[in-house]
Amino acid sequence: MPFYSDEIIEQVRAANDIVDVIGQYVHLKKKGSSYFGLCPFHNEKSPSFSVSRQKQMYYCFGCGAGGNVIRFLMDYENLTFPEALQELAQRAGIELPQQEMTAEARRAADRKTQLLEINKVAAKYFYSLLHSERGQRAMAYFQGRQLSPETMQKFGLGYSDQYSDDLYKYLRKMGYSDDILKDSGLVTIDEARGGRDKFWNRAMFPILDANSKVIAFGGRVMGDGEPKYLNSPETPIFNKSRNLFGLYLAKKTKRKQFILCEGYMDVIALHQAGFDNAVASLGTALTPGHAALIKRYTDAVYLSYDSDGAGVKAALRAIPILKEAGITCKIINMRPYKDPDEFMKGLGPEEYEKRIEGAENSFLFSIRIMEADYDMSDPAGKTAFQTAIAKRILEFPEELERNNYIEAVALQYQFPVESLRQMVVHLAAKEGSGITAARPANRPKPTNFAKQQLNREDGPTKSQMLLLTWIAEDGGIYRDIKSYIGPEDFNEGILQKVATALFAQIEAGEEINPAKISSQFPEEEEQRQVAKMFNTPVAEDASARDLGKALRETVIRIKEESLERQRKAADPGEQLQLIRKHAEIIATLKKHDFYHRS
Ligand code: GTP
Ligand code: MN
Repeated sequence: MPFYSDEIIEQVRAANDIVDVIGQYVHLKKKGSSYFGLCPFHNEKSPSFSVSRQKQMYYCFGCGAGGNVIRFLMDYENLTFPEALQELAQRAGIELPQQEMTAEARRAADRKTQLLEINKVAAKYFYSLLHSERGQRAMAYFQGRQLSPETMQKFGLGYSDQYSDDLYKYLRKMGYSDDILKDSGLVTIDEARGGRDKFWNRAMFPILDANSKVIAFGGRVMGDGEPKYLNSPETPIFNKSRNLFGLYLAKKTKRKQFILCEGYMDVIALHQAGFDNAVASLGTALTPGHAALIKRYTDAVYLSYDSDGAGVKAALRAIPILKEAGITCKIINMRPYKDPDEFMKGLGPEEYEKRIEGAENSFLFSIRIMEADYDMSDPAGKTAFQTAIAKRILEFPEELERNNYIEAVALQYQFPVESLRQMVVHLAAKEGSGITAARPANRPKPTNFAKQQLNREDGPTKSQMLLLTWIAEDGGIYRDIKSYIGPEDFNEGILQKVATALFAQIEAGEEINPAKISSQFPEEEEQRQVAKMFNTPVAEDASARDLGKALRETVIRIKEESLERQRKAADPGEQLQLIRKHAEIIATLKKHDFYHRS
């Protein structure tokens, strides 16, 4: 892996304006000094994702995602740092230096890149085992499940050997240390017993991200046994709710929709049968993160969950999550078969295609499931069912949509249309919502996570972040505060590092450059924190006098905290003297007239 100097990284970053780049992926609108749009990293209805041209950084006030343009590309496209840099360099027409891989470069390589490398090496190893003498049983297993050699190759299926440290030994032989292996999700390192494999004697399914990088594995017992499937734990490169099995193939489909199913084998069987748009969530229920990911590629989904009770339940949970993300979904009926894999074996692709065409609207599906809870032979039960339907219909915000559903449901259940309509109107009046402006009854209120988190932040940290944001937005403030506050007044760690870098930029007469500072922190979590430090809300509507007051209070709070820390660390003999000295500093500070420029 090439290793790039700070200079070249900064050159590439500066050549790619963040508003232009993010604007290619997210619809942005100017508001004040920033641009706002719907956050691509979580589901939301109103924009809390901000991009600042001045700071060259983005920050989501909803979910806390943030960083500079390189970070954005890494997260949005699931790229490693060098890949994101290469893409941006190409975009700006900058030639990156070609460098040989040296031992040092390898050490310097970002940990995630190494973890990706390890997972890839493991996938190749499992694949070669499957095709060797030792993998005969696994090969027979896959063949028994009617997978063709092409399918096995396409999905990179493999086999983990029966010895429970076989992979560990192999990876050690390949030069990987325990220190990195312990984070790979593939082995556990035990002081007494040494390294042990997570997967052994299993049929292996590599999990690839949208860019075809191996990030994890699923392993199935061959035959009966518990647990049926094992999955890699979450690791720095594997976030279960941000990846879908099969996405790297489905994203290239020519079909307009995705097919969403439950299992590895379902996805594989569907692709083998020509449905190259199938994906599955990875051994977990569908999350809003999955829905946001799907929404990048399509806004229509066919659910092909198991037809048993658990599958129906899972579908009922997935429908509102998809809807909330702006994805419409229809439900495929696979009866009498349990899942797509079994359906293909029983009835085949042509019949499945017909089931797609006949897929049921998700609302009618959920009403039909609800029906089982009511005794329709009893007039009271029937009324209760109608009331429940009317309530659900009220959740549609559009009158036209409500009317269409009233008609569809009435037709299906042979209710008189007008009586159902009356029921809806009556209920709306009762709820005081006013039928035309009827709001979804149980949509969760948007919560402002960032705000909650800020409130939870202890006072000093918040003041420190506020001051950093303030200075980043108006460098003039630094002159005002520099005789009182220095980097040493900030909490040790990332806050102090950021303050040091920011103040150094100003002292050197450079332009304030938050994005460059954030480049010093390659880890996702650190970048988020830096983005937050540069996006702590300063009241925009306050007058200059209010701002001056707020600034003074902030500075005083930071200073008091910092002096208190110093005092606690000092010798007992110095305490009295320090208390007096500190009181003087604070008294001077209180007299200082901050920020009386207009
Ligand atoms: P086959 O029996 O191989 O056809 O599996 P399936 O894909 O039909 O599995 P099933 O419907 O039972 O489960 C769906 C998905 O849930 C699987 O693909 C796994 O991702 C996950 N899963 C199933 N069993 C387990 C388990 O025992 N542990 C974990 N962690 N995940 C499981
Ligand atoms: Mn199955």
